Amino acid sequence: MSEEELNELIKLQPVLRVAPQPRDLNNNGHIFGGWVLSQMDIAGGIMAARVAQGSTATVAIEAMSFLAPILTRDIVSVYAQVERIGNTSVSLRIDVVAERNRGEDHVPVTSGLLTFVALDGNHRPRQIPAESKAKYKA
Ligand SMILES: CC(C)(COP(=O)(O)OP(=O)(O)OC[C@H]1O[C@@H](n2cnc3c(N)ncnc32)[C@H](O)[C@@H]1OP(=O)(O)O)[C@@H](O)C(=O)NCCC(=O)NCCS
Repeated sequence: MSEEELNELIKLQPVLRVAPQPRDLNNNGHIFGGWVLSQMDIAGGIMAARVAQGSTATVAIEAMSFLAPILTRDIVSVYAQVERIGNTSVSLRIDVVAERNRGEDHVPVTSGLLTFVALDGNHRPRQIPAESKAKYKA
């Protein structure tokens, strides 16, 4: 991610802001990849539910990149942007940025493309509402 792209990204409202805890560290003193992935899935689920106007399930996690470690005392922001809306699915670009040195530095740490499927009451795929397609269309 270029510095220009990072500066544009951090102007957006993150879906989540989280302070990782010491229990989330691995033996290198970095935050576990699984913890990061979990935050991305939670943030993506929140955004996907807005787009789908109801329940969704994660159907695919693609193109994950772990760019830099998250360190203790970082504040983690998770951004979700609509990349594609299909008939029943929505693909989101999820970017994770670590804020450190009391907000002096912003470091892109992870990004990925996650796809969610809108679900009906029987846990089967449901059409994404047309008004959401107009509102969120990438
Ligand atoms: C989500 C689920 C209901 C979809 O059922 P399905 O029979 O695969 O549905 P379909 O084949 O009709 O696909 C539905 C949509 O998902 C998309 N899709 C399915 N598999 C995909 C994949 N691997 N990557 C990207 N998109 C995918 C399809 O393209 C389709 O999108 P569209 O309607 O916008 O064109 C089913 O796969 C499921 O329940 N999976 C488990 C979900 C879950 O528990 N997630 C949590 C993981 S721990």
